[in-house]
Amino acid sequence: MTALLNIQGLHIRAGDKPLVSDLSFSIRPGERIGLIGESGSGKSMTAMAATGLLPVSIGVSGSIELDSQQVVGATDRVLNRLRGAAAAVVFQEPLTALDPLMKIGRQIAEPVRRRLERESGKTSKDTVQREVRDLIDKVALPQPERIINSYPHEVSGGQRQRVAIAMALACRPKLLIADEPTTALDVTTQAEILALLDQLVRETGMSLLFISHDLPVVAQVVERVIVLKNGVAVEEGPVKTVFGNPQHDYTKTLVEAARLFDEALGATG
Ligand SMILES: Nc1ncnc2c1ncn2[C@@H]1O[C@H](COP(=O)(O)OP(=O)(O)OP(=O)(O)O)[C@@H](O)[C@H]1O
Ligand SMILES: [Mg+2]
Repeated sequence: MTALLNIQGLHIRAGDKPLVSDLSFSIRPGERIGLIGESGSGKSMTAMAATGLLPVSIGVSGSIELDSQQVVGATDRVLNRLRGAAAAVVFQEPLTALDPLMKIGRQIAEPVRRRLERESGKTSKDTVQREVRDLIDKVALPQPERIINSYPHEVSGGQRQRVAIAMALACRPKLLIADEPTTALDVTTQAEILALLDQLVRETGMSLLFISHDLPVVAQVVERVIVLKNGVAVEEGPVKTVFGNPQHDYTKTLVEAARLFDEALGATG
């Protein structure tokens, strides 16, 4: 089957400083892949490169095919067509994705309207409103009436992340890229958002690129992982193999750190 995202020989640099070096991986339709590594290892850079979102000051070479379109060097017109339809991104901090001055209902309506126009060339206010309500239900936001009429700062962090997920879902992307979507949340909310993402991805059959530094989190939602260290993929394979029998020293350190953390939690809990 043709890959939905196919990255081959990707190099990303800032001036002459390499940020990502010779990275290759692909994601098939419906496949869930985790990209893990410590802070600064190049995870977000890779995610931004995949959707053509890197700042112009950053150098990119290699090949990134998203839904059979080349992203490296693509024009804004090509990229705009791909964004949303081929891939949508949920970021770590939902406030960055939301407009502070626009009510939440209108913000969710925006990608819904764009998608309907793309699909059928026309939209009606009623259809858009109905879909906004459906999406709010889907991401299990409480008090839909209040949320629709609230500004982002008037709802909780976990609720804002649900709004950001609803906006990504509104695009009906073939690939969902989630860049540390739960890192900014408390542990309980983290678990809820993770379960929600997991359920939505399975229901819709979307592909998933899940980015995190947190091994147990990644292990819950993906089938395969790629371990990045200083912009280099040091290990790759099925979750069970990589976590159960890590080969690279760096992966061993990550697995050991996660195990110690779990033990510490067990000791207090
Ligand atoms: N605009 C930029 N110009 C130059 N270097 C940058 C820029 N943005 C990020 N970097 C550097 O690129 C490297 C990779 O950053 P990236 O954001 O991909 O890390 P990450 O793996 O996502 O880390 P984290 O887990 O903290 O989010 C870092 O060393 C970072 O300082
Ligand atoms: Mg990051």
